[in-house]
Amino acid sequence: MAPKVLVSDKLSETAVQIFRDRGIEVDFEPSLGKDKEKLAEVIGKYDGLAIRSATKVTAKLLESATNLKVVGRAGIGTDNVDKEASSKKGVIVMNTPFGNMITTAEHAIAMMFAVARQIPEADASTQAGKWEKSKFMGVELTAKTLGVIGAGNIGGIVCDRARGLKMKVVAYDPFLSEEKAANMGVEKVELDELLRRADFITLHVPLTDSTRNILSKENLQKTKPGVRIINCARGGLVDEQALADLIKSGHVAGAAFDVFAEEPATDNVLFGLPNVVCTPHLGASTTEAQENVALQVAEQMSNYLLDGA
Ligand code: MLT
Repeated sequence: MAPKVLVSDKLSETAVQIFRDRGIEVDFEPSLGKDKEKLAEVIGKYDGLAIRSATKVTAKLLESATNLKVVGRAGIGTDNVDKEASSKKGVIVMNTPFGNMITTAEHAIAMMFAVARQIPEADASTQAGKWEKSKFMGVELTAKTLGVIGAGNIGGIVCDRARGLKMKVVAYDPFLSEEKAANMGVEKVELDELLRRADFITLHVPLTDSTRNILSKENLQKTKPGVRIINCARGGLVDEQALADLIKSGHVAGAAFDVFAEEPATDNVLFGLPNVVCTPHLGASTTEAQENVALQVAEQMSNYLLDGA
C-alpha cells in the first residue's frame, strides 16, 4: 500500500507533485495546521506530515498519530515540533537547512538598509503627502562595523554580502574557527567585544537554551551608543522590553525585527517606537526559497517513506 502524506501548511504545490510522482498518496490541506482538533482527528491516517510553521506537532497531537513515521519541516527551525515526544514515538523529524538561507540572509540585509535610512517611516510620510525631507537623516553602511552573532549558513551569507557593501564584519560564533573566519574575511571576536564595537548587530542563531536572551538587558546595555539591531532569526533571542527602553532612551538608534518572542505578533513593546521596522516573519518568504524547501522536504520524506533512507 502506498504511504500517505498530509500537507497541513501552506507549502508550494511543487511538494504535492513530487509526492505524487514518487507514488505517495498526498492530501493537501493547508488550513489544517491552524485547526488542532481537526488535525488530531485525521492524523492517524498518515505516514508522513509535511509542515511549515503554523502546524504545531505537540505531544498531544502525536498521541493520535498512530501511523506517523516522519514529520518534514519545509524550512529550518523545528521549534514547532516536540522533538522529544517525536523521538519517543519513533517519529523522525527532518528539516531543510539550506533551501531558504540566501533568502533569509537577503531579508536581514534589506532590514539593515531599511533601518539605516528609515525607509518605512519615510515611505509612510511621503505617501501621506508630508514631504519631510529633513526629518529622515540616515547613516551609511560603508565602513561601519557589522556584528554578526552566529556565522553559520545564514550568518555566513550575511557576512559575505556585508563585505560586498564594504562593511567591516566581526563575528561571534563559538563554532567558527579562526581559519574559517579569516577565509570569510571576518574577524572572530567574543560577544562582549562585538557588543562594544558593532554599529549594527544582526542575529543568526537558533533559539536554544544557550542562545535564549543572548541580547539580554545586561548585554544590550554593553552595546555602542547609536547601535542598530536586526533580528531575522528567532524571537526570544533579544529582551524586547529592554530593547524598547534603550530605544526610548536614545541609546539604541533603531531596530529591525522579523521575529518576535510571541508570534503571531499582533501587539509588541517595539511597535510604534521611532525607527523600528517590523515584518511578520518573512525571512523565508520568497518564491525561490519556498520552491526550494518544498522540493527538498518532499524528496527527503519520499526517500524515507519509500526506501527508509
Ligand atoms: C525557518 O525556520 O525556516 C524560517 O524561520 C522560515 C519560516 O518559518 O517560515
